Amino acid sequence: MVIMSVSSIFVFPPPPSLLVSAMSAISFASLALIGFLETKGKHLQYSKFWNNNNRRRKRPIRLSSKVGMLLIYTPAFLAGAASFWMFPYEGFRSFVVQSALTLHFFKRVSEVLFVHKYSGSVPLDSAIPISLSYFLSTATMLYAQHLTLGLPEPPIDLKYPGIVLFLIGIGGNFYHHYLLSKLRGNGRKEYNIPEGGLFGLVICPHYLFEILGFYGISFISQTIYAFSFTLGTTFYLFGRSIATRRWYLSKFEKFPQDVKAIIPFIL
Ligand SMILES: NC(=O)c1ccc[n+]([C@@H]2O[C@H](COP(=O)([O-])OP(=O)(O)OC[C@H]3O[C@@H](n4cnc5c(N)ncnc54)[C@H](OP(=O)(O)O)[C@@H]3O)[C@@H](O)[C@H]2O)c1
Repeated sequence: MVIMSVSSIFVFPPPPSLLVSAMSAISFASLALIGFLETKGKHLQYSKFWNNNNRRRKRPIRLSSKVGMLLIYTPAFLAGAASFWMFPYEGFRSFVVQSALTLHFFKRVSEVLFVHKYSGSVPLDSAIPISLSYFLSTATMLYAQHLTLGLPEPPIDLKYPGIVLFLIGIGGNFYHHYLLSKLRGNGRKEYNIPEGGLFGLVICPHYLFEILGFYGISFISQTIYAFSFTLGTTFYLFGRSIATRRWYLSKFEKFPQDVKAIIPFIL
């Protein structure tokens, strides 16, 4: 009750849509669950965790990481771009949410094409559900925003801090992706200990900035769905970063013990 009344100060009222309300609960719960499973050694199958749990799987269809990641991010990017046509200008807040989501996924597609240097593959049966979840969450976030049309604005406006947070998030995320890409020469597939930026403090600074970027989008949006998705994403990336730190500790004897997973000095 107290949480409901406090949140009503900075969040639009619940949407008149059973679908969006259900999606808020589903997105949060499913992301938090897969984050928890990451800490228990059950990983989403891509990047350095591909192959870990695959002994029992029979010849899954594999896509190169580049193709797999394009499959993962392109539908969400198209959902963002299509929103400008489906929901033409509905006010500054909605326009910024549409722009931020579209820019976020455009950046991810561009990084897949021009920045990341991948070493492996993504099984098709992992890429499809991940792609679907990004597409559905992006579409739901945009639709939830559309449903705020005509509602009174929340008493506290978080739009402008949200824009700043989003820009810090997207900038920091890109910078650490760039540093990761410098660890490998063209055509090389080995893993090295990352350096530079915040890598001296946490092993997944790119996840930390991804989370900040999504809090930025939630602050701009101020819908229950955006906050639920972002909270779920926080749990997922916390779980994945804990698993990543464990992976580095097992692979590199020289990995510094004081480098945390995702929050400097804390976690
Ligand atoms: N919103 C969400 O829920 C969510 C979830 C996951 C990811 N993301 C986004 O996707 C981005 C990338 O995520 P990710 O999980 O793919 O990150 P990642 O596993 O750290 O990989 C990123 C890139 O860096 C390479 N790399 C990683 N560690 C390396 C090392 N020690 N030495 C050399 N190369 C290394 C990877 O190559 P390999 O592929 O060969 O390992 C890959 O090309 C995130 O930062 C975030 O922006 C978002």
